[in-house]
Amino acid sequence: MTKTYDVAVVGATGAVGEVMLSILAERQFPVGKVYALASARSVGKKVRFGEQELIVEDLADFDFSKAQIGLFSAGASISEKFAPKAAEKGCVVIDNTSRYRYEDDIPLVVPEVNPAAIAEYKNRGIIANPNCSTIQMLVALKPIHDAVGIERINVATYQAVSGTGKEAIDELDMQTQALFDGKPVVSEVYPKQIAFNALPHIDVFLDNGYTKEEMKMVWETQKIMGDETILVNPTAVRIPVKYGHSEALHLELKAPLDAQAARTLLAAAPGVSIMDDRCDGGYPTAATDSDGTDPVYIGRIRQDISHPRGLNLWVVSDNLRKGAALNSVQIAECLIQDYLA
Ligand code: A2P
Repeated sequence: MTKTYDVAVVGATGAVGEVMLSILAERQFPVGKVYALASARSVGKKVRFGEQELIVEDLADFDFSKAQIGLFSAGASISEKFAPKAAEKGCVVIDNTSRYRYEDDIPLVVPEVNPAAIAEYKNRGIIANPNCSTIQMLVALKPIHDAVGIERINVATYQAVSGTGKEAIDELDMQTQALFDGKPVVSEVYPKQIAFNALPHIDVFLDNGYTKEEMKMVWETQKIMGDETILVNPTAVRIPVKYGHSEALHLELKAPLDAQAARTLLAAAPGVSIMDDRCDGGYPTAATDSDGTDPVYIGRIRQDISHPRGLNLWVVSDNLRKGAALNSVQIAECLIQDYLA
């Protein structure tokens, strides 16, 4: 008989939590019991798990000794409080928040890039899931880094509002409707209008003038690639797309790599789908391609006309799936296969 694992989904009513539940069901993760946990506000609500409905329970009252795996996506402060408690009870936490990502003894994992790091879950019983923008960028860059080495990454992101959470999706809807109706736009989640706009601001501003979202891409790239010499220069931008982040990557490589060689390398990489026809629509977009799907799509592969070792890519992926829930479930799959079996 297949061994099963009891799984607690923390933040089960949220944008990522809902997708975690659907991906667990879709991929037939060998679950025993699944616990849907959220705040006291949501107790008794129902959430979908495949064909079943689960009744939401209060995280604050949950006994984590009942679960072997905890998928956390309820915000950094919730992970700060509850992840160590869960780990203490023997529930291995896969944390989708930024709370533990930068601690040296916590593994930060993209299964296509550094699966061996999962072994370090034994340190504290916690594995960190990287930032959505970092995950899709590194799935695309790992084969290139292995082949020729990456010296510097210039990246501009075009990020969907679902990355902020459900309230942000609602704000985009309401602002769009208000603009169609000729009514005033109300901004509560974002500091400026997001509908029909682009905000060069994700997470808080830091002393060096970058935002924390941008610095996450710097810190996480170096940690996951295990290479502190990779230079990363990001600008993170929120745009009025609901699902799917896009990234324009401008790479400075250690040795030249032409577009055809890059395409061949990337086509063989795990988790990647190439859409790179040099014609109308021959490239991936968030709304038409990545929404609701698993791959990291790569297009616009071309040599940089301004740099002898430059290469440009356009990388698109569903931020709630590969950028969050899918990556967490893939980590859980590696964990049960290699360590908890
Ligand atoms: P709730 O719906 O009960 O507020 P999103 O990122 O889409 O906004 O979702 C955030 C998730 O985190 C939701 O599931 C939310 O539950 C959960 N959450 C927020 N605050 C708490 C809390 N204090 N305790 C448990 N879960 C929380």
